[in-house]
Amino acid sequence: MKERPLAIVVVTGCSQGIGEATCHALLRQGSKVLGLDLKLPSPALAEHPNFQFEHVDLTQAGMYERWLELFKTYAPDAVVHSAGMGTMGRFGEIPRERERFMVKLNVLATLDVVHAAVAQGPIKKPLHLVLISSTAGISCVPGMAVYSASKHFVSGLALSVHEEVQIRGLPIQISTLTPPPVRTKFRENMGFEERQKRITGVLMPEDVAADVLHVLKHPQQSRITGLMHRVFFKVLRHLLPKRFLHRKIYEASLFDLQPLKPNA
Ligand SMILES: NC(=O)c1ccc[n+]([C@@H]2O[C@H](COP(=O)([O-])OP(=O)(O)OC[C@H]3O[C@@H](n4cnc5c(N)ncnc54)[C@H](OP(=O)(O)O)[C@@H]3O)[C@@H](O)[C@H]2O)c1
Repeated sequence: MKERPLAIVVVTGCSQGIGEATCHALLRQGSKVLGLDLKLPSPALAEHPNFQFEHVDLTQAGMYERWLELFKTYAPDAVVHSAGMGTMGRFGEIPRERERFMVKLNVLATLDVVHAAVAQGPIKKPLHLVLISSTAGISCVPGMAVYSASKHFVSGLALSVHEEVQIRGLPIQISTLTPPPVRTKFRENMGFEERQKRITGVLMPEDVAADVLHVLKHPQQSRITGLMHRVFFKVLRHLLPKRFLHRKIYEASLFDLQPLKPNA
């Protein structure tokens, strides 16, 4: 019997957090993974025979052309676009340059990969794009306004482009995952120390990675990781008075924001 070739999956933000956990989960299930990131992956990932790494800055000029080449060369079965960053604090007080840099990564780099996937021309086999958005991309988050707006772009783009490519009969699916807070270096990447007091119930990157595998099999939009989180987000939060809920979210965003200490 002819062996089924391994699925080829491109993962952005592969060297850390949700992207890294997704690479491990995909490799465990026998996929071949091409990881893209600004920094080198861990040896455990780099030395895996089915893993290949490419150093990229998704925000740099020329990345769109690189996406077109990657689609042509590898004809991936799926792309999991995880690279992203956040900003947190009072709107108007977060440095404008930082907000603009985030928009470049979360918005423009996402636009590039989706645009290249659709515009690459005739494709030989079905392609599934899985974009990592956030619950912030489907709700109101005072204290993370621009991050929330950037993730609304990701969720909104996926929703409309997915429908459009179905109408046009292109063999492309676009899914989004909208995880609640996950314990990664996301906060450190925003320039803040880990919280002194850990929030209970926060998911691990491996929980989201397992959900990515689920979504790869069952394409869908706005998948919230974790049953309890889904119930809270879709049902319970609507029972709370809006102003109260938003004030609590705002206070949680600003709570314990200690700038990272410079390396000793
Ligand atoms: N963690 C959460 O609570 C949470 C919740 C919901 C949704 N999300 C979303 O999930 C995704 C992954 O988050 P995470 O927490 O896993 O983040 P993370 O731990 O900060 O990892 C992101 C990875 O992307 C890389 N990256 C950043 N900018 C890049 C660029 N320009 N080109 C290439 N690679 C780049 C980072 O490299 P460097 O470290 O070198 O910058 C890092 O390795 C993001 O889109 C985030 O918005 C996160």
